[in-house]
Amino acid sequence: MLPDSFLTELKYRCDIEQIISSYVVLKRAGRNLKGLCPFHSEKTPSFVVYPESQSFYCFGCGAGGDVVTFIRKIENLEYLEAVRLLAQRVGMPLPEEVQDDRAAQMKNRILSMNKEAARFFHQVLISPQGKPGLDYLLSRGLTRRTITRFGLGYAPDSWDSLRNHLKGKGYSYEEMAKGALVNHNKNRDSYYDAFRGRVIFPIIDLRGNVIAFGGRILGEGGPKYLNSGDTPVFKKSRNLFAMNFAKSSKENSLILCEGYMDVVSVHQAGFDNAVATLGTALTPEQARLISQYTNQVILAYDSDGPGQAATRRAIGLFEPTGVKVRVLTVTQAKDPDEFIKKFGPQRFRMLMEGSANATEYEIAKLGAKYDRTTEDGKVNFLREFCQLMAGISSPVERDVYIGRWAAELSVSREAITQQVTAIQKQRQRRQQKKEAQNLQVFSQEIPVNRQDVQRARNLRYALAEDKLIVFLMRHPDCYEFVAGQLGPDEFVTDSNRKIFTLLCDRLARNLPVDMMSMASQLEEDSMSRLSWQMASSEGIALNKQEAQDYINTIKKHALQKEGETIASMDDKDLEEYIKQITANKK
Ligand code: GTP
Ligand code: MN
Repeated sequence: MLPDSFLTELKYRCDIEQIISSYVVLKRAGRNLKGLCPFHSEKTPSFVVYPESQSFYCFGCGAGGDVVTFIRKIENLEYLEAVRLLAQRVGMPLPEEVQDDRAAQMKNRILSMNKEAARFFHQVLISPQGKPGLDYLLSRGLTRRTITRFGLGYAPDSWDSLRNHLKGKGYSYEEMAKGALVNHNKNRDSYYDAFRGRVIFPIIDLRGNVIAFGGRILGEGGPKYLNSGDTPVFKKSRNLFAMNFAKSSKENSLILCEGYMDVVSVHQAGFDNAVATLGTALTPEQARLISQYTNQVILAYDSDGPGQAATRRAIGLFEPTGVKVRVLTVTQAKDPDEFIKKFGPQRFRMLMEGSANATEYEIAKLGAKYDRTTEDGKVNFLREFCQLMAGISSPVERDVYIGRWAAELSVSREAITQQVTAIQKQRQRRQQKKEAQNLQVFSQEIPVNRQDVQRARNLRYALAEDKLIVFLMRHPDCYEFVAGQLGPDEFVTDSNRKIFTLLCDRLARNLPVDMMSMASQLEEDSMSRLSWQMASSEGIALNKQEAQDYINTIKKHALQKEGETIASMDDKDLEEYIKQITANKK
């Protein structure tokens, strides 16, 4: 555990408003700040930062906590790693005696093992044993320079070569299995290499760690690509291939491809800003990650049916992030890699320069869908065209398209504009209704509570506990007053008891109970609850008299519980019970 003096200093130096601002665009709202939540997709801000209590809370998804919690969640770090990152940012050395906790140790172990594995795969590739792999990569047009730059490798067609190599370096089979480098055969209780006879693409995160691998089979057969499953250091949905290079590109955009080979080829063709998802469709998390690095994305997906479907999906996912989307239409080739191989980097650059923006892409799609020489086709085209226009937020941009297409279709500009305005009004009404409904749900109970059955059953007591906790956080000097009457045992809900126990424990030892100190000892879900309690009591003063009422309410539960037990007793038990209390009275 970290010394409190260290945390106090860290808290003093880290301003939550400033730190969160580097990830989220915040707007002032009274004493607090509001923005779009980075932990779930939303269009209207429900993420609030409270400078006064140095905490944040999202009324949409229930994420909340102090500045360390925020860094943990957004950077996917363990507690100590997050503290270290923050300390680094504000230039504070970490106390030396601090030991990594076990989870962080395991992560470090896997990371160093992955680095060793990447080195092994690459060494094999450039050795005689790796000839099949090297020949394959060269036959696909990659240069040795590119192979080195990406650290590509080859996994020999063998069941145990990586396993034995890593064993020799002191890694256990369990560690290898945790890192998804070997698989476990349960019947024979043996371990074997996960990647066999494949060229290897190491996946490297923004800090330069090797976090996972992708492997392609040479030639035909399946599965074509094999990707590491999720491990303690790798979550597919949160990472992108080649982001380690792309993040420092001078281009002000990112090129998003479908596959590893596309990225590598596009880099070789001179664009160091290409990235790819890792064997899955783009996720909202990845879209948000991308939005932290650029405000323009060029979609360079395959030209086939699935590629086009993926393009549409991606356009939708980027919309709430504010990232501008352009779409590269690859023709006469399946994907960017094939295009570059066939026509060369020069033609690819021209393709890039001509890439349409998302709206132009959608309109072109509509044009291909409907035959505008027939009345029917024209009407259907216009209907979808108006829907599309209604989604464009910039009036100028909207006007340009409407003008162009009104002329093209010989329809009056006013008629189209009217139609578009009508659709927008309708959408606005729907949105308002939806938000009003959401708000109702929130004012009753918040999302983090949904799964807490115990809380739902004892809501009256839980609410009193909430308020008592807030009261103590704000008035630590009233500790004796509260603790003299009520102990953690008497709390009704387990979730609040955890918080209250820690609170009392710290106050009894005269330790600070601000959000950051609490976060050093609370689990993520408790932290989220505590920040909700603080957030929802914002601006509501709680005095000692009210605290007394909460204490009384909580105490009533024990009495009521006793009543219930008696009511449910059968005659024999009841007789026994009466005997007992009469005996006690004597
Ligand atoms: P090449 O054939 O080597 O040019 O690959 P590609 O990038 O053109 O492959 P494709 O378009 O078929 O697939 C795109 C991406 O989907 C790949 O980079 C992989 O990440 C993923 N993928 C393709 N095939 C498989 C598979 O069999 N299993 C898994 N898990 N992922 C795959
Ligand atoms: Mn390909």
